[in-house]
Amino acid sequence: METTRHVTMDPQKLDALIGRALGDLSAGYGGVMVSLGNRLGLYKAMAGAGPLSARELAGRAGCAERYVREWLNAQVAGGYVAYHAVSDSYELTPEQAFVLADEDSPAFIPNAWAVPASMWFDEDKAMEAFRTGKGIPWGDHDGRLHCGVAAFYRNAYRGSLVAEWLPALAGVVEKLKAGALVADVGCGHGHSTMLMAKAFPASRFQGFDTHGKSVAEAQRLAAEAKLDNVGFELARAESYAGAGYDLICFFDCLHDMGDPVAAATHAAKAIARDGTVMLVEPFAKDRIEDNISPVARMYYAASTTICCAHAISDGGRLVLGAQAGEARLAEVFRKAGFTRFRRAAETPFNLILEARL
Ligand SMILES: C[S@@+](CC[C@H](N)C(=O)[O-])C[C@H]1O[C@@H](n2cnc3c(N)ncnc32)[C@H](O)[C@@H]1O
Repeated sequence: METTRHVTMDPQKLDALIGRALGDLSAGYGGVMVSLGNRLGLYKAMAGAGPLSARELAGRAGCAERYVREWLNAQVAGGYVAYHAVSDSYELTPEQAFVLADEDSPAFIPNAWAVPASMWFDEDKAMEAFRTGKGIPWGDHDGRLHCGVAAFYRNAYRGSLVAEWLPALAGVVEKLKAGALVADVGCGHGHSTMLMAKAFPASRFQGFDTHGKSVAEAQRLAAEAKLDNVGFELARAESYAGAGYDLICFFDCLHDMGDPVAAATHAAKAIARDGTVMLVEPFAKDRIEDNISPVARMYYAASTTICCAHAISDGGRLVLGAQAGEARLAEVFRKAGFTRFRRAAETPFNLILEARL
């Protein structure tokens, strides 16, 4: 016989949760609009233009007015565009343009929506993985994942890598200026590699990755940029070629690997005696209860269907997840034979860690 379990709910907590869930749902709808606005050039057509009618914007962006008007109203409802009721016109404020229209801004968000788009697209694969325990290789995801991650991190790297992160490492900038050998492991599309190569022409940079399409894209971008001190190769983190590296970098990839200790052990062999490992990982604290924030939520979610899934497909000896935290990362490098490990810098999105033999 079924029994009914009576539960008492706190109405305030319930209201707060419903409000939050609805806000999240609304943001999900809004993300589709952000992606459209970005891909159709609507935000760019508005940036710096002052107040525009829907018809004027449609003309500037080469789109149909009725769609543009509805899209604009969705933007106004979400606080992404300002509306002037008296003139029935719409305006992108400088702050809105910084976040939505300026592709070089460190706060440019639209590309990041490609990542959850790919996660939705691959939901069936994730369900299968949950049920079987099998992995999903990075390359098996919808292509928006690779472009979304590369474009999202590129802006952070542009803003911080050369100006802040490298100078935070002991003695590295001096070596790079004089001429150093650098490996960028798990380089993806190679934006980090190329930024460093441009800034330090006397040094030589080699990117390694297991994903063929990413390596091909990195090679294409390097040729386009006419950089002759950078190369990209298909190789695993535990077996790439070369020795005596002055700097070995891991940008947002160690936690994706199936055997991060083996990757760190290979770095210990390939690095010069006084060389440096720069480990850039998603910002996280060491304890679950301290990782309660919008950023942690995003990372844990991506980690579930992307990072953990790839690490499992890659052998799954140690599946760190994207919220590994400094203590667990330090342990990986201690096991690999590094004796010095410290936090060199941090941002709300990244931990920048330094390991030395
Ligand atoms: C999240 S992406 C980061 C890419 C790039 N470093 C960036 O910051 O944009 C992780 C990358 O690690 C690569 N990767 C995963 N496992 C690897 C392994 N065992 N050896 C080398 N690369 C690996 C993936 O192919 C992918 O390109």
